[in-house]
Amino acid sequence: MDLITKIKGLNTVGWSNVFQAVQYGFRKKKIESSTVKEIKRDSKVVQKIGVLKNHISLENGFELQFENAIAEILVLADNMVRVTWTPGKIPVPYTIEKETWSKVDVIHEEQDGYKLKTDKLLVKVDKSGAVSFKDNDVVLRKDNPPSRVGSGWCHEAELKDSEHIFGLGQRNHALNLRGGSYLMWNEEPMGDYGEGSDPIYVCIPAYIGLHEDGNYLVYFENSNKGTVEFKETATAKFYQGALRYYFISGSVKETMDRFSELTGRPALPPKWALGYHQTRWSYKTEEETMEVANGFKENNLPISVIHLDIHYMDGYRVFTVDKSRFPDLKRLSSNLDEMGIKTVTILDPGVKADPEFELYKDANKKGLFCKLPDGKNIEGPVWPGWCGFPDFTNPEARKWWGGHYRKLLDLGVDGFWHDMNEPAVFSSSGQPTLPLNTMHDMEGRGGNHIEAHNLYGLLENRAAFEGIQKSQPEKRPWMLTRSGYASMQRYAWNWTGDTGCNWWSVKHNLKLAIMLGLSGVPYTGSDIGGFNGDPSAELYIRWFQMSSFMPFFRTHSAAFVKRREPWSFGQEITDIARKYLELRYKLMPYWYTLAWEASETGCPLVRPLWWLNSKDQRLWDIEDQFMLGDSIMVAPILEQGAKSRKVVLPEGKWMSFWDHTWHEGFAEIEVKAELDSLPIFVRAGSLIPMEIENNLCLQIFLNKEMSTAGCRVYSDADDGYGSYRVDSFELKYSDNTFELTREESGDFDFSYNEIDLDLVGCSVAKVVVDGKQIDGLENIKTKPFRKCQISIK
Ligand code: GLC
Repeated sequence: MDLITKIKGLNTVGWSNVFQAVQYGFRKKKIESSTVKEIKRDSKVVQKIGVLKNHISLENGFELQFENAIAEILVLADNMVRVTWTPGKIPVPYTIEKETWSKVDVIHEEQDGYKLKTDKLLVKVDKSGAVSFKDNDVVLRKDNPPSRVGSGWCHEAELKDSEHIFGLGQRNHALNLRGGSYLMWNEEPMGDYGEGSDPIYVCIPAYIGLHEDGNYLVYFENSNKGTVEFKETATAKFYQGALRYYFISGSVKETMDRFSELTGRPALPPKWALGYHQTRWSYKTEEETMEVANGFKENNLPISVIHLDIHYMDGYRVFTVDKSRFPDLKRLSSNLDEMGIKTVTILDPGVKADPEFELYKDANKKGLFCKLPDGKNIEGPVWPGWCGFPDFTNPEARKWWGGHYRKLLDLGVDGFWHDMNEPAVFSSSGQPTLPLNTMHDMEGRGGNHIEAHNLYGLLENRAAFEGIQKSQPEKRPWMLTRSGYASMQRYAWNWTGDTGCNWWSVKHNLKLAIMLGLSGVPYTGSDIGGFNGDPSAELYIRWFQMSSFMPFFRTHSAAFVKRREPWSFGQEITDIARKYLELRYKLMPYWYTLAWEASETGCPLVRPLWWLNSKDQRLWDIEDQFMLGDSIMVAPILEQGAKSRKVVLPEGKWMSFWDHTWHEGFAEIEVKAELDSLPIFVRAGSLIPMEIENNLCLQIFLNKEMSTAGCRVYSDADDGYGSYRVDSFELKYSDNTFELTREESGDFDFSYNEIDLDLVGCSVAKVVVDGKQIDGLENIKTKPFRKCQISIK
């Protein structure tokens, strides 16, 4: 990090914290100096695995004993293999949701090395320790024999020339990660991050390799500090621990499905979370918060959530409320609730080291804070000043932390925003976090911060999720987190932190959403307009338009910038914001169904264009357009002053959402986009479910050339774990007639009185609903039907 960035960072931190940051910087350097030296020394000690001495055949795999290492290769599913090289500590399975897998038919062969074959995958281990993975006789990937480096491992896999790499969490790089080297270490960038500042808050050692012969997903279950590099080879190095990784084959959908079965499905959010959120650092009083809520009402702008940033707390002490600013938080939350607005409050993990603060005293007494090897708590400065940090790798600390949410839930708080949980500690030098030799419980087996650091935010979210579930079992917990790790999707959504207030950042945030989705984290979004700065009206509204198609849709800004509610930019911008807010809410059945599908399959909501056809290499490098689900394609305006842009249409037919013109793909077209216009295209054969005036409206993007189409609509009570239903609509075309059928499953009552059918781009001649011809061809409104025939002119 250069000096200017550092000074900017310190500026954001606030000069009152700077003195402590300097003190901590020196202290931390001293504390961890021998560990740092050890790591440096160790990184030069390389040891080969040696020759193969023995092998044991296991029910679903092999154990191969080399001179200096043991490899265990196990088939866990027909398209997933787990490879574990020891020595090294086996990971505590924090990121693994499913540990026991049912038996798979595996054929073992022992000639020319050791082979394991399922219906979908062939794994071969050579006597040298090289492992290759094949899918239908096509080599997906070859791993060279790994080597030990110090007390860690170095793993190397060959990459094909055309191979593109996607994933690894949030990276400040092109969408294709080929050519770069990435530190696996969640980091607070201390100020806005920009080009070249990598890593940032969420590192996930999982990636997809895509080449001309197929694709695969690899997940390294090793939370230690490390690097992953994609040059000629994919080289992963971890400072400590066993080398354990999972290799998954299949289509990209199948790999995401298996990966999320392994690491946990994304939790289905309460429906309100998919609406619009507004915040700032901070709405500082009850009156100010109500003013904002009323502003949305007066301007006729739909909103679902207001977030309270750190000023609502008493001196930034977690789980407290500043009574002078928010005399009655319950009154505020219920007033907001009456306006249909949920309340979310921020929480940071640092607990103010104030001997008078009950929470601090309690955690101290119970020994729940992170400690140094000398047994003393490690304390470091964050917003409240010096803080202790709960050790979330200790089950007692998780239970203790999770138990405190009750206080805020009782005050009517609906969701939680977990910030600074890398954990960030203000430090004028080195990495702004805890010292590397901080001790962690790791479920009783012990470990250091090199291993526990990347897990810190994940486990804070787990503690909260479990605590909230206990306190409020009838509702689905909702939380937003800045930091996280593989499997975080089980507990929390993500936002991309303190992103810059510039055009690079809006572009980059689109990439981050796609990258996170392909790393297993479907819910993310960015501070609309950028965090620390004053965006122009144009930047704000273009960012807003794009975000209206992102899972997490929120305006947020730093403390020292101008107000940033949509009306702060004048009438024109307010009107444009309203247009996209209304569209967001109309599309809610589409969003909610995608969320439910994600909770079943792990598929991201925001997808790269190549998701539609991973063989089409023309789509591999497109990073300024995206799919929302399989039907809607968005091409946001990402350049200052642009009134049009080039849009790539993949194979197939596409209809412009706004003017209903058909376009033939594959093509590159120039699309006009005045300030109020966001280029959106719908794939031919799509049925888009919308909610308009409390009715379910199916927008049918028909095309006579296609013979079938369909969509599903998921509904339930919008929160909780009660009954649900899925309506599956299927459309068949022949002889100028479309037959639309609806099948239902589940126990929840159909929530709409009417279904409206909007046959986009077609002239209708006759409509027959469940055997009866109906009037009103332009605007077809029907009672929930089973079968509907639509003849077109
Ligand atoms: C961090 C967060 C930011 C928040 C601020 C104050 O910088 O990333 O979103 O507003 O802290 O809590």
